[in-house]
Amino acid sequence: MSNTTYNDTLKGVILAGGLGTRLYPLTKVTSKHLLPVGNEPMVFHTVRQLTDAGIKDILIVTNPSHVDGFVRALGSGKEYGCDFTYRVQEEAKGIAHALALAEGFAAGGSTVVMLGDNIFESSIRQVVMDFKKQQTGARVLLKQVDDPERFGVANFDGDKIVSIEEKPENPKSNFAVVGVYIYDSSVFEIIRTIEPSQRGEYEITSVNNVYIERGQLSYTFLQGEWIDAGTFDSLADAHRIILSRKE
Ligand code: G1P
Repeated sequence: MSNTTYNDTLKGVILAGGLGTRLYPLTKVTSKHLLPVGNEPMVFHTVRQLTDAGIKDILIVTNPSHVDGFVRALGSGKEYGCDFTYRVQEEAKGIAHALALAEGFAAGGSTVVMLGDNIFESSIRQVVMDFKKQQTGARVLLKQVDDPERFGVANFDGDKIVSIEEKPENPKSNFAVVGVYIYDSSVFEIIRTIEPSQRGEYEITSVNNVYIERGQLSYTFLQGEWIDAGTFDSLADAHRIILSRKE
């Protein structure tokens, strides 16, 4: 019997809503997350990242037009050794808005949240293990990039993150916050307090900034390549990474 009172069973949330307008007309009838990357639909890579990290209870949040495609592609989860739950985000109001739909699923526990269009060369196991040691608060993954203005960007004081800026014109570092976040259960109460950004979205960066204010945001540096496959160029890069990994 365990002598810890902390339940370290993490659940997974894959956010796969959004309209994928930057990939139009590829996304005219299909979700971006079901487009082929290497020899599989994109979202399969995200599912495998979670199951490889020991996460077997996974919520997929998608939009009304594509939920049927996800159910057909992924089914119950039996094939992947996990259990899928599906929820529909009626309006594309941002990542934090989509995550709010996971509150009942999380049932007071911590969650590993992955954006369904993020493709990784290596495993996310390290960040999951790091979070299990910290138990509360939040943990993000950082990656040094050439084009930080496309992402949430960490602003450091020494080795401490003091703020994150969403798609800044003049980034204060070149460390992007990648699309994997681990949150304790207070994330849902935090989401209720944030305001939409200028682009009208409830930003995940606003949520992370609240954790920073509370002194509860830690980070892990990501090893290996990372792609946010939301554009034609990055989708081509994602193919290259996955195909070279298969070889
Ligand atoms: C989103 C987040 C951003 C993060 C990025 C990672 O950007 O808002 O902070 O760095 O995912 O893929 P978006 O997909 O909205 O461009």
